[in-house]
Amino acid sequence: MTVELSRHDDLVLIKLNRPEALNALSFAIIKEIGNAIDEVATSDARAILITGEGEKAFCAGADIKELRNRSLMDQKRGAELGQSVFAKLNAAPMPSIALINGYAFGGGLELALSCDFRLASPEAKMGLPEIKLGLIPGYGGTQRLPRLIGEARALEMIMTGMTVDAPEAELIGLVNQVVEGNLLEAGKTFASRMTRFSLPALGFARDAVRRAGETSLSEGLKCEAELSTLAYQTEDAEEGMDAFEAKRKPEFKDA
Ligand code: CAA
Repeated sequence: MTVELSRHDDLVLIKLNRPEALNALSFAIIKEIGNAIDEVATSDARAILITGEGEKAFCAGADIKELRNRSLMDQKRGAELGQSVFAKLNAAPMPSIALINGYAFGGGLELALSCDFRLASPEAKMGLPEIKLGLIPGYGGTQRLPRLIGEARALEMIMTGMTVDAPEAELIGLVNQVVEGNLLEAGKTFASRMTRFSLPALGFARDAVRRAGETSLSEGLKCEAELSTLAYQTEDAEEGMDAFEAKRKPEFKDA
């Protein structure tokens, strides 16, 4: 298996394990990532962490050696496979955090962009270098990057193929934090800030915020009203407000 799943208390770590190719995404690995996300999504895990094996790379992108000599339909199916697998992270009930431990290029950065949060080691380097291959990003990069860091910076990254180092990535909002020291431990600590909350409430919050990048303010506000109304209907909302009044800690049941 080139994708490893391991349980760490209430978290699951998905690790790409192909360090000899800098964890490059063959189509087989992309399918394995999809199976791993499916497995975690139906488990009782409270958050998903994703990282790459080795000191050097999170993931150096699509496996360039597999990209050649394909029919037009195979090229289209390839992009759709990567997009649909990465989109599973957006549909999973628990939050996801990319731990960028080195190079995150092309499809590797697109995988990280599909996570809700990104932490990076100080040595991490990120970019969408597809333009240097005469290509453009095909696993969601042209859509998720501008939503995250704005059109001008996204265009600069995509149209120059530039590499962004970790401090700059933090500055422009590409990563949430640069972590000195143990990245996995930092990921666990980051996740623990939200793992005791209600998963339905976390999901409504995420869906509402995502809508902000996709629709007009008036439509987005309607969506927020609907999702916040849904949140009121949950048992967890009753529990949260009961606990506040009783001055005790809430015990959410994801219901
Ligand atoms: N695909 C296949 N193999 C890759 C790879 C990739 N994306 N990236 C690295 N490798 C392989 C190399 O071929 C090499 O294997 P061999 O030892 O068998 O030759 C091994 O990993 C180590 O790589 P390097 O020797 O190149 O390591 P380096 O430290 O000198 O350079 C690097 C590191 C700058 C990341 C360089 O490997 C590189 O530029 N990789 C390609 C990055 C890239 O262009 N990614 C985008 C891919 S296209 C894409 O992702 C499309 C999309 O949107 C879905």
